[in-house]
Amino acid sequence: AARTRDHLRSPIICILGHVDTGKTKILDRIRRTNVQDAEAGGITQQIGATYFPIEAVKKEATKIEEGKKLLYNVPSLLIIDTPGHESFTNLRSRGSSLCDIAILVVDIMHGLEPQTRESIDLLKMRKTPFIVALNKIDRMYDWKAQPHNCPTRASLEKQPSHVREEFFRRVKETKLQLAEIGFNTELYWENKDVRKTVSLVPTSAITGEGMPDLLMLLMALPQRLLTERLMFTDVLEATVLEVKVIEGLGTTIDIVLTGGTIHEGDTIMVVGLDGPIVTTIRALLTPHPMKEMRVKGQYLHHKQIKAAQGIKISADGLEKAVAGTQLMVVEDANDEEEMEYVREEVMKDFQTILTSVDRSGLGVYVQASTLGSLEALLEYLRSEKIPVAGINIGPVHKRDVTKASTMLERRKEYATILAFDVPVEKEARELAESEGVQIFTADIIYHLFDQFTAYMERVKK
Ligand code: GTP
Ligand code: MG
Ligand code: NA
Repeated sequence: AARTRDHLRSPIICILGHVDTGKTKILDRIRRTNVQDAEAGGITQQIGATYFPIEAVKKEATKIEEGKKLLYNVPSLLIIDTPGHESFTNLRSRGSSLCDIAILVVDIMHGLEPQTRESIDLLKMRKTPFIVALNKIDRMYDWKAQPHNCPTRASLEKQPSHVREEFFRRVKETKLQLAEIGFNTELYWENKDVRKTVSLVPTSAITGEGMPDLLMLLMALPQRLLTERLMFTDVLEATVLEVKVIEGLGTTIDIVLTGGTIHEGDTIMVVGLDGPIVTTIRALLTPHPMKEMRVKGQYLHHKQIKAAQGIKISADGLEKAVAGTQLMVVEDANDEEEMEYVREEVMKDFQTILTSVDRSGLGVYVQASTLGSLEALLEYLRSEKIPVAGINIGPVHKRDVTKASTMLERRKEYATILAFDVPVEKEARELAESEGVQIFTADIIYHLFDQFTAYMERVKK
């Protein structure tokens, strides 16, 4: 089918920013949900996805004049939530790699923070257009909250002059900080050129002020900058976000479909730890509109789904699927030539990772829960010039310890397993102790680095 302006896919929007700036709470406010309240430690530790039907977006966005002039010509908005905690760089990277545009959330009371800057670097690298939500405006002293998701300008007009002064002073400070790292920014209603200047939108996830403005901008920006990119194509593009066991469904994968159409009964290929996995889609499931995919709930069944959408796939043989990799559809499973091609394509990213393993066979052993975190670990070890002899994804088994133990005779300090966010089996732990293999474990990536660095310091002495 020809690509046209009349057939657009849903834009994918990623929400990024420093920990606790209010990313999840903003989505909760728009969805009328309470996802954030139920998060362990109040922090997000997974990538989430929610789809907002266009009618719901239009209802809010047309509360402001600019929103009345827009076309509502995409099926929905797919918004990807990411963690702001420092140890989840890999998930921010994965989220930002999937999106067309981004919302960078900044706490107006704090200005730019370390993971704000890291997020900006990711967006810069991929040249992703973004807007900045200056969140928590209600925390300014004496703020007079306006009800019913009030548009920001209407709310600002109602503020006493000293509150307006504080507001404009804080906006100015943030603009300066952003200018220092090379971005021209303006409050969105003063922004004359969205190609050169980043729009700022003041918001409160608690009072709902600025939500219409935010949704209006999410409609406006793709229309100005990305119509070409959003034209629907038949080329299937999908990324595996998570591999999860769900009661009644067995092992499932959560994917984001960024291009094309996927069907129940399709033969798919995904990256597996022991090689490519070929399987047939038993069920195509989505959460209900305006519900978060990562929260357990009731799923809707579909015969087919068009991009963009977050989807849960149930199929056999997904136990060893690797998160953070691409999914491909096989047209004809009997065509050996096609199978071979897809096999190579799907395993490409994984092969790249495998090549970072040292050829001499000398080095430490690295193990992680996902491909993304494994990448983060390998990147760190490369920068520290520490060679890697082996990698694995999933729990640490006895055979991993056996592999690492071969280093005992060559370089004793490398007889080490760095295990991120994976359990160590009891037998593996016992074998490691009796053989003298070190196992470092952590579920925060930086803690693992710290332990290992301290250990290397000790052995050097
Ligand atoms: P991570 O996902 O862990 O990076 O955090 P986050 O950016 O998703 O922030 P989250 O939604 O978890 O909110 C953090 C805290 O700030 C919570 O206690 C929220 O209730 C609070 N909060 C979020 N937005 C606002 C806001 O606009 N105003 C006020 N007063 N509090 C807010
Ligand atoms: Mg969050
Ligand atoms: Na949080």
